[in-house]
Amino acid sequence: MSGIIGYVGPRQIVPILLNGLRRLEYRGYDSAGLAVVDEGRLEVRRAAGKLRHLEELIRLHPLDGTYGIGHTRWATHGRPTVENAHPHCDCSGRLAVVHNGIVENYLTLKGRLLAEGHAFRTETDTEVIAHLIEAHLGQPLASEVDPGSRLERAVRAALREMTGVFALAIISADVPETIVAVRQGPPVVIGVGRDEYFVASDVLALLYYTRDVFFLEDGQIATLTRQGVRVSDFEGNAVTPRLERIEWEPILVEKGGFPHFMLKEIYEQPRALRDLLAAHTTSDGRRVRFEEIEMPEDHLREVRHLRLVACGGSWHAALLGEFLIEHLARLPTKAEYSSEFRYRDPILDAGTLVVALSQSGETADTLAAVREARRRGAPVLAICNVRGATLTREAQGTIFLHAGPEIGVASTKAFTAEVMAVYLLALYLAQRRGRLDDARAEQLIREAWAIPEKLERVLATDDDLRALARELVRAPAAFFLGRGVNYPMALEGALLLKELAYVYAEGYPAGEMKHGPNALIDEHLPVIAINTRDPDSPLSHLLYEKTLANIVEVKARGGRVLGIVTEGDVEVRQVADRILEIPSASYWLSPILAIVPLQLLAYHVAVFKGCDVDQPRHLAKSVTVE
Ligand code: F6R
Repeated sequence: MSGIIGYVGPRQIVPILLNGLRRLEYRGYDSAGLAVVDEGRLEVRRAAGKLRHLEELIRLHPLDGTYGIGHTRWATHGRPTVENAHPHCDCSGRLAVVHNGIVENYLTLKGRLLAEGHAFRTETDTEVIAHLIEAHLGQPLASEVDPGSRLERAVRAALREMTGVFALAIISADVPETIVAVRQGPPVVIGVGRDEYFVASDVLALLYYTRDVFFLEDGQIATLTRQGVRVSDFEGNAVTPRLERIEWEPILVEKGGFPHFMLKEIYEQPRALRDLLAAHTTSDGRRVRFEEIEMPEDHLREVRHLRLVACGGSWHAALLGEFLIEHLARLPTKAEYSSEFRYRDPILDAGTLVVALSQSGETADTLAAVREARRRGAPVLAICNVRGATLTREAQGTIFLHAGPEIGVASTKAFTAEVMAVYLLALYLAQRRGRLDDARAEQLIREAWAIPEKLERVLATDDDLRALARELVRAPAAFFLGRGVNYPMALEGALLLKELAYVYAEGYPAGEMKHGPNALIDEHLPVIAINTRDPDSPLSHLLYEKTLANIVEVKARGGRVLGIVTEGDVEVRQVADRILEIPSASYWLSPILAIVPLQLLAYHVAVFKGCDVDQPRHLAKSVTVE
């Protein structure tokens, strides 16, 4: 997984490529590089580590040109060194390739190319692509009047030999002002300007220059010149692309005065949830509507069970979805890790609705799970934040999250939006299946609309959380406990602390502690217990009492407890070392309020420890490898 960018046009190219890479750095930040052509000479600059190292290199060794490509890398084949950084060149040093994805048969191809006399500098699969295209370039054919056709032909011939998933951008010093872009899996978006064209892995890289774009489909090639863009399939048949206008404002990809994107995105949550609710509930507040779901209503009524597939934090939202859908729609529901789902021969049929949750819509395991579900005849819905993402193309319908671009690697606003989206899906299925009368539906939708304002009140406790975070900075590990709907939030709280602050953390069902983990409890291990209470829910009341007993057990063993509780709580206050109050909400929606303090806690611990909050080590935002 990586980010690619390319530009051909009249403007100064290096700032455009670097700015694009900055917007794509969320996709990988192990190394970065550029290749541009200046007066027939291919110039390459590459650096290991974050983009600023490449910027520094370019400051010392400037370059310029009229067309070029760039890359930010998340290492798959080969260590994150300068040598392995993209762009990679052929033997002549006149052709450069940037690549996102994996060429599965690269070793076989490399063996053949070595035998043909190609000399390789790296262990990467990408370098093999450069040499393979070079091997197919040959002499221009009489029919190839413009030089772009020759490069396009060589790329097409190379593609016929390659297996795997990849997005590519290719330039050659011998083919002036031309970029060839390819999509076979990972996303490729083409930006259309006046006398200028762009290629990128994500529209975020283009917002400052153009919002007129189209997405390549799998199996398509685009040839970009200053005069226009030609799209064809791998066999060479011309294709007419569908131009779209992106509504996102460039300001959305700025930090807007916050020190980190993550903090900005945490604070955007009330707005994001309001946008989601406005998009997916009717103006009279009585019904849920999903306009982009193409599945006929009677089909939805025939659903007999659901599988929710997702990875990482999105899987925690799916786990909560299991509770919500089973309770509200009375449909058997199971949350599954996408990475496990397809390897265990799942039993699926037309009566099983598979719902894939993914912020990016590009997570390789989730896409693979969706393809497997469709192969077995199950209808597939997506819950996704990114328009045009691969997932939204493969699913029969999509519930969009309306959270706006999420750039911090740890998911925050998209996570709470996913939780709200599964809540609405539960209501939707319940309504369509006659499980919910209008008055109750109206009440449940009203409760959802009350959440953004309550969330603003949680955000107002940020200073308290900062102070609490200080106490956690030296903790060697942490435990997060919860029961019922708070259990998935305990998992999410632990994941955030791990990924952001590099603290070993575990989320656990509070009732399971006595079956082993209690042995770990001592005065050095902080235990964060989510124990909220909805006075109108007998279930919530029961779980509160049970979790309280578990907190007492932790205290009896010398543990330190921070309780996340509902305003006005008395009992947890009496036993816990610290408490943090959140507003009262319905049992089914309270997790959205409970997770926000844990987001802020993980954020502040990470900042105190000097961690790179927006780009934690070894991670990337969208994981396009399985
Ligand atoms: C956690 C996090 C990741 C993602 C996971 C799935 O904070 O961000 O665990 O949730 O990589 O990504 P998407 O939702 O894009 O499929």
